[in-house]
Amino acid sequence: MIGFSVWHRRWCCVAILVLVAGTACVAGPLALRAPPGAPLHERLRLAERLLHDTPLIDGHNDLPWNIRKFLHNRIKDFRFDEDLRTISPWATSSWSHTDLPRLKQGRVAGQFWAAYVPCDAQHRDAVQLTFEQIDLIQRLTDKYHPQLTLCTSADDIVSAHANHRMCSLVGVEGGHAIGGSLGVLRTLYQVGVRYLTLTSTCDTPWAECASTDRVEPSPRGGLTPFGKVVVKEMNRLGMLVDLSHVSERTMRDALAASRAPVLFSHSSARALCNVTRNVPDTVLRLLAANKGLIMVNFYTSFLTCKETATVQDAIAHINHIRDIAGVESVGLGAGYDGINYTPQGLEDVSSYPLLFAELMEAGWSIEDLKKLAGQNLLRVLGAAERVARELASAHVTPYEEVPPRAFDTHNCSSQDL
Ligand SMILES: *[C@@H]1O[C@H](CO)[C@@H](O)[C@H](O)[C@H]1NC(C)=O
Ligand SMILES: *[C@@H]1O[C@H](CO)[C@@H](O)[C@H](O)[C@H]1NC(C)=O
Repeated sequence: MIGFSVWHRRWCCVAILVLVAGTACVAGPLALRAPPGAPLHERLRLAERLLHDTPLIDGHNDLPWNIRKFLHNRIKDFRFDEDLRTISPWATSSWSHTDLPRLKQGRVAGQFWAAYVPCDAQHRDAVQLTFEQIDLIQRLTDKYHPQLTLCTSADDIVSAHANHRMCSLVGVEGGHAIGGSLGVLRTLYQVGVRYLTLTSTCDTPWAECASTDRVEPSPRGGLTPFGKVVVKEMNRLGMLVDLSHVSERTMRDALAASRAPVLFSHSSARALCNVTRNVPDTVLRLLAANKGLIMVNFYTSFLTCKETATVQDAIAHINHIRDIAGVESVGLGAGYDGINYTPQGLEDVSSYPLLFAELMEAGWSIEDLKKLAGQNLLRVLGAAERVARELASAHVTPYEEVPPRAFDTHNCSSQDL
């Protein structure tokens, strides 16, 4: 690791090089950039230094679900601090891309772990499974403390990074996880959840999911009145509204209803690969106005609409989103452990420094790369926290709405009580 003063001199050299090449830039201060034509090893070193200075926060990782599938949430013998590429069943699974050594190699400072529960748990045991997944994330974090530490605020992330600890952050994937209950939503916040993806791959009684775009759209639209209350309660709590997986109509409704910036925790650009999991340009423009954030997904099926992709395909999505939504609104949410095809060069969680090195080659300034890495997420999370404080000082009290009764064949609820 290079010392600070040496580092400082290095940046000065870079700055001088850019000054020579940067006369075309008339407005604003000159940005720091890697020297043009810098070799890969040099750019990798700059990338590692950049990620030492600024926390890298990834928006979505599905490891907790794989631990449920493979280990039934028993982690006593789970060796997360070893190379899982050598340990069964991880070694042979195309869905496994994550372990502690590779997270460190990837300079990941904060990981949103998905507390995901499948859609067939809706109206059944979705709430229980969600809490079990959150419990798993907490136990895994405790087992590897202090390397891993639970973070629930922007300040937590900054101080963990300064102390060389990696943040475990919790996001819940799928609105069915709240069982139609604002009480459950509030309790999720209390146990550390900082985003809720409004839907997974199924409609909830109050929000329409993305796959509905392709078939018959539901007559009731994106968010129902209760769905809008869910968004308002999330604003009041300071929980981010995640719009990955929702239909375009739900995106628009949530953007209109939310007072805080919203999130796409793991989606890419529909203009480059037209799948409903990606975000159309019109919504990217609304996202810019909302000062929200889209964290780019690395699944090859979302980057190229094929089974193969390269680092350059990920860069194309990042650049497109920057061009449409602005550099303040783009981040990274690779989706590792929840995807089974990854781009060449971005095979697992160790790959981020290479991505940053290649983005330097593509002309990204150091300042903009810091935004992409984590500053944008810190800003959005900080803004959600601020909105919650404002609503608290305006004495907005917990919402008490209940959704219209959803009747289905699994009539096991005691909702009359
Ligand atoms: C994506 O496909 C849909 C349905 O085929 C079409 O209506 C839409 O215009 C396409 N969008 C883009 C950006 O190509
Ligand atoms: C489910 O229970 C409610 C309330 O007890 C009842 O009104 C409704 O008819 C039941 N639905 C089914 C499908 O059994």
